[in-house]
Amino acid sequence: MTASEVEESRRRWDSVAVGWARQRDRFAETVAPVTDALLALLEPRAGERILELAAGPGDLGLRVAQRVGDTGSVLVTDFAPEMVAASRSRAAELGLANVETAVVDGQAIGLPSGSFDGVVCRFGYMLMPEPVHGFAETRRVLCEGGRVAFAVWGDRRLNSWGTAATRALVDLGYLEGVEPYAPGPFALDEPERLLAALDGGRLELDRVEDVAVVWRFSSPGAWWEMMCDLSSHLTETLDDLADDAIEALRDRAASYLVTHKEGDGIAIDGVARVLLARPAP
Ligand SMILES: C[S@@+](CC[C@H](N)C(=O)[O-])C[C@H]1O[C@@H](n2cnc3c(N)ncnc32)[C@H](O)[C@@H]1O
Repeated sequence: MTASEVEESRRRWDSVAVGWARQRDRFAETVAPVTDALLALLEPRAGERILELAAGPGDLGLRVAQRVGDTGSVLVTDFAPEMVAASRSRAAELGLANVETAVVDGQAIGLPSGSFDGVVCRFGYMLMPEPVHGFAETRRVLCEGGRVAFAVWGDRRLNSWGTAATRALVDLGYLEGVEPYAPGPFALDEPERLLAALDGGRLELDRVEDVAVVWRFSSPGAWWEMMCDLSSHLTETLDDLADDAIEALRDRAASYLVTHKEGDGIAIDGVARVLLARPAP
């Protein structure tokens, strides 16, 4: 990816920072089993210094901050300044004095080597054009005995909540066919690809588990509203469309959702993969 492509990606993420902040509670609630698994793998201890990469509007790193206590600290980072601004306000809202925030590209961390006891990253590495660089940089900033706990989305065929909108955008000609492994939510959904990237970054897998999540909505329309907040491809496309074209796109997307009834609403299953890795000798 060229420097201007990185800038374009940053701009896209900046443009949805407000939407991500709006969806923060719903997202955090849905992926709570992932967050719990990450905390269990990381086992943050009082006094530790932890780095969060690709933190978005702030959730996981702020939970870690509560575990490392006053003698520890968490540096919550993202490469999109608007996301960092959202996590900074969230940390202030929660009154967390041991949190700092910074704009950091996960592929070029730009912090001293060996400076963290642990790194966490929820749904970030697969968005980097070269995840292997993200893993290599993670290894570099870890101190001896350090570890990284991170999550990626699992098998795309089991995550219709995250694939349906893109399929509709492609079907209706708003998006050119998507490269299966281009940076995106499912770029590392195949275990072999993920392990090869880890290995390339000289990180050694310690543990891995698949974690089920369930997205709950009052209706497919509520799912669509969430996606409009989270996806820059969607928001940018919708800006230029008339109401009937938006409706057609939404209906086509909803036709790809694998839902089941739950109470008065619908539920959509998904699966994430959670891993713990350590610097290879
Ligand atoms: C899917 S969101 C996840 C946010 C958060 N970790 C969560 O789980 O709620 C991905 C985040 O990764 C950030 N991101 C994408 N590429 C990045 C990169 N190369 N370095 C750092 N952050 C990046 C985006 O700005 C966005 O905030």
